[in-house]
Amino acid sequence: MGSSNEVIVIHGNGNLAGEVAVSGAKNSALKLMAASVLGRGATTLHNVPLIADIDVMCEVLEHLGATVSRDGHSMTIDTAAVDRNETPYELVTKMRASIAVLGPLIGRFGEARVAMPGGCQIGARNIDMHLVGLEALGVQFDVHHGFIVARTPDGLHGAQVTLEFPSVGATENMLMAAVCAEGQTIIDNAAREPEIADLCAMLNEMGACVSGIGTSTIAVEGVAPESLHACEHTTVGDRIEAGTFLAGGALTGGPVKVTGVDPAFLRMAITKLEALGCTVRTGEDWVSVERTGPLGAVDIQTLPHPGFPTDLQAQFMLLCALGEGLSVVTENVFENRFMFAAELMRMGANIDLEDHHAVIRGVDGLQGAPVSATDLRAGAALVLAGIVAEGYTTVHGIGHIDRGYEDYVGKLRALGADVMRKDIGARP
Ligand code: UD1
Repeated sequence: MGSSNEVIVIHGNGNLAGEVAVSGAKNSALKLMAASVLGRGATTLHNVPLIADIDVMCEVLEHLGATVSRDGHSMTIDTAAVDRNETPYELVTKMRASIAVLGPLIGRFGEARVAMPGGCQIGARNIDMHLVGLEALGVQFDVHHGFIVARTPDGLHGAQVTLEFPSVGATENMLMAAVCAEGQTIIDNAAREPEIADLCAMLNEMGACVSGIGTSTIAVEGVAPESLHACEHTTVGDRIEAGTFLAGGALTGGPVKVTGVDPAFLRMAITKLEALGCTVRTGEDWVSVERTGPLGAVDIQTLPHPGFPTDLQAQFMLLCALGEGLSVVTENVFENRFMFAAELMRMGANIDLEDHHAVIRGVDGLQGAPVSATDLRAGAALVLAGIVAEGYTTVHGIGHIDRGYEDYVGKLRALGADVMRKDIGARP
């Protein structure tokens, strides 16, 4: 982000067609990096996306004493010399996912100090389930001057835990501690996101014993912390980036082919694209979308995987905004994730918000306007909106987009969109 004040300017030419390769999944790579702490050596990760959130996780690991070296999309993290167990406020406030090191630090050292995450734009995002799960494994928590201080006076032991909600972060933090606990841990109502399966696979490559991978009941047989070792692992493709480009293809008609992702990760999104009037084709590691008729209407509710992902909610709300008829989008995962709707209305969309429901009446077209990215996915969706809007759209707050999309502008340009970054001078 730097000190410059960049925006993305889009001239709505309605063009988006061709083939695009997705990067490695942000939400996977961040946790794989955190897990490297357990390996006490040089772990190499491949297919790591070049995005700002990954840079923050590098800082977190370096702060702990790790050495990180990068070569394109590969990264080697040597955690042999990690001798600190504290993650400071500055880094946790920059990126909430920094708390993913809590589980691995507890697993390796039996203790950790992690700054408490503050509020976040997309809802409360509490960590109560992380703490309840870890407490069941024998962790005791105190809050000291804004830090969560974790200790394990009697060691870590296995436990059976049923999560109140299949939280992605809580499942991951529990997993990364449980691999070092004495005895068996069962995580019931575990999150089933493909990124969690990726993490489980890496933990097993490091010498852990995790089963039930990809299901809502994950079993972990604890091993001695010293027996875990470094490994080499390739990050799974980013299904959300893929879904974003597919939404773009559905918006313009495409055809857009997205490569580097397992279509099985996108089943619900594909179902909704078809319901909206698109033709979707899939191969082993690609998905394509095309539309010749008008966009229709569809009802969508976000749910934990394999339900419709909240991270694609804004992109699909955009499709509904230009579809024929009435659509209802219901957000069940995060409260307060409809800020995008207000921006889209400034471009001419017709949306009524009622609690966690958005009632969308399709309009014939959108008009370019200055708009603000309120979060990462909203930002990506606003750029797509600009591609089909009449005239020019300027998206502000694009630091959000840089957090999670590698070279978004470059990839859209390669697909024919008239999109560019522009520095509009120093921030006020
Ligand atoms: C992860 C993803 C995010 C995605 C989300 C849901 C990363 C870095 N981020 O976020 O992109 O949108 O999964 O798929 O992987 N909650 C609690 N208490 C807890 C934990 C969660 O109340 O202890 C609530 C949250 O406030 C939220 C919901 O549960 O409303 C889902 O959170 P969770 O599944 O944990 O998402 P994250 O891991 O934060």
